[in-house]
Amino acid sequence: MAEELHPDHDKNEEDLSKSAYAQYAEQEDVDPRCIPIKLDGPVPEHTDITYPEYPPHDHETWKTLYTRQERELPGRACEEYLAGMEALGLTPDRIPNLKDISLKLDESVGWRIARIPGLLDTNDFLGFMARAHFPSTDYIRQPEEIEYTPAPDCFHDMFGHMPTITNPFFSNFFQYFAQTYLNVTEEREIRALERFYWFTVEFGLINTPEGRRIYGAGILSSPKEVTHALSDNVEVIDFEPERIGAQEYEVWHLQPTLFAIDSFEQLDQEFRAWAKAKGWND
Ligand SMILES: [Fe+2]
Repeated sequence: MAEELHPDHDKNEEDLSKSAYAQYAEQEDVDPRCIPIKLDGPVPEHTDITYPEYPPHDHETWKTLYTRQERELPGRACEEYLAGMEALGLTPDRIPNLKDISLKLDESVGWRIARIPGLLDTNDFLGFMARAHFPSTDYIRQPEEIEYTPAPDCFHDMFGHMPTITNPFFSNFFQYFAQTYLNVTEEREIRALERFYWFTVEFGLINTPEGRRIYGAGILSSPKEVTHALSDNVEVIDFEPERIGAQEYEVWHLQPTLFAIDSFEQLDQEFRAWAKAKGWND
């Protein structure tokens, strides 16, 4: 599932039917940043995370990405995400300190941050989330990669994912999802959960009294997806776990089909009910 965790759809790629994971593995000129890492020891967590000495251009990159994306959020991003940005104190000024975010997340929903070195092996990645730690990079794409980076970076992790984790229903779901994924062994079931992750955590929409809004990190951190996701070019389907688990998705292209939840409470409750009915979790 490594590719689902860090989608970036701003690149025009030829259509590739295999998973990105398989595609990377077969490429001779594979970018080493795109090869999932299997951790061989502990990584810094929470207050043990130190703030890197970023060169000035890294903060400029953050500011450029942040200000460009922030402009698109009003009327598009859901209230829970916007409240999370506020709660975490994200600003365009400089790359946030993971330790500070960890302390704020811990205070709000009991989640913490683990600093990871790059794209992780899926089980390692979800192992952190199963114990309420969000694994995040702390480095940012290079200036020449502003429009597209094939590798995970802290803009996607911090700007895309972290605000929504401050919602208790979402964070409860997120932890339970990870625990469920780690219980499942059948390939068909793993695929269903990968799709579920894709269409919720990365590309989820939510219905609100003011209209449809975005909560998926892959949309909120992508300049093209954020304007595309609520356009007439997208077919939006009501949230139904079984249906989502059967829905194919496009790794490299803008999403033609998305799913809308009615609330984060619904996401949490209905995912739990589905996982229990399947015998994947207690
Ligand atoms: Fe992600």
